[in-house]
Amino acid sequence: MRRLNKKKALNFVKELDAFPKVPESYVETTASGGTVSVLAFTAMALLAFFEFFVYRDTWMKYEYEVDKDFTSKLRINIDITVAMRCQFVGADVLDLAETMVASDGLQYEPVVFELSPQQRLWHRTLLLIQNRLREEHSLQDVLFKNVMKGAPTALPPREDDPTQPLNACRIHGYLYVNKVAGNFHITVGKAIPHPRGHAHLAALVSHETYNFSHRIDHLSFGEEIPGILNPLDGTEKVSADHNQMFQYFITIVPTKLQTYKVSADTHQYSVTEMITDRVINHAAGSHGVSGIFMKYDISSLMVKVTEQHMPLWQFLVRLCGIIGGIFSTTGMLHSLVGFCIDVICCRFKLGVYKPKSMSVFDGHVNSLTPLLSENAEH
Ligand SMILES: *[C@@H]1O[C@H](CO)[C@@H](O)[C@H](O)[C@H]1NC(C)=O
Repeated sequence: MRRLNKKKALNFVKELDAFPKVPESYVETTASGGTVSVLAFTAMALLAFFEFFVYRDTWMKYEYEVDKDFTSKLRINIDITVAMRCQFVGADVLDLAETMVASDGLQYEPVVFELSPQQRLWHRTLLLIQNRLREEHSLQDVLFKNVMKGAPTALPPREDDPTQPLNACRIHGYLYVNKVAGNFHITVGKAIPHPRGHAHLAALVSHETYNFSHRIDHLSFGEEIPGILNPLDGTEKVSADHNQMFQYFITIVPTKLQTYKVSADTHQYSVTEMITDRVINHAAGSHGVSGIFMKYDISSLMVKVTEQHMPLWQFLVRLCGIIGGIFSTTGMLHSLVGFCIDVICCRFKLGVYKPKSMSVFDGHVNSLTPLLSENAEH
């Protein structure tokens, strides 16, 4: 009884066989079939090869979510050169809460404002890249991917000894601020704390020495990542007037960057308006304080940039699709073409039964054929 069941089960499984064996003698190979097979295998190899490149490729996925982290501090990285002597200028931050932020992380270094020839070349290249970035946004993806490989975007040191006096001041370093909107500024005189904000000691500085021409070599927020270009990097402004106010309005977007080489919590920013540079002239009704003002605001949305890759299983599925698909498609096409040729060439002989092999054995075949064809014509 059990043996019978086993046999039944075996038979059942046998029935399910989708690959029935055809005896070798029934298999016929033809030249056309061979050609089609060669073509099919070539196509398979080519497509599989290209598919492999698709599999190797990665892309950036952008996601947005609300930034819930409001307790941490925001780091501002600065490297700005102002065309004034260091003892005359002061840089600091005032945030919405009107608390003055300690700016101990900033260094003041006397330099020459004019760039050396090599630095000038570097600066020009940087501006070219910035222009391209503004036009082609997909370039940002490439930059993100190559973050770690990227050359540092800092200005190279001078290759010559400056002959001019050190009439400019390079302010560089970092500041930690609260994650609220604020105002980073560089104006005349050092800042002194004041119960309601702070004041700059400007009375001792002659107006003739005011010159807020400046060059921003680096301005970024959050973790500093070499290779990332920020929108204001390379900005250079020369003012023809002593009393000028430069303003930048900056919106900071927290960004979580996760590529195969680096994962970092950083911040991108966009500069919304820069056309507000104006000359301060109290007599003409244009009031204000000369200096460089960067008003920043922090977006409550966070961008998550993740580098993605086709998973291996998907690659395998697609590979199977290519191989199986080409195999069955070419098979179908082959038989379809064969059928069409049969129909076109042999239309008039349809119904004619000419067993070739018979002629070998039987001499009467020839006498039979005319009869049959006559029948077919009726
Ligand atoms: C400020 O300095 C720059 C660079 O040295 C110079 O080109 C510009 O003429 C100066 N502006 C004034 C008002 O002196």
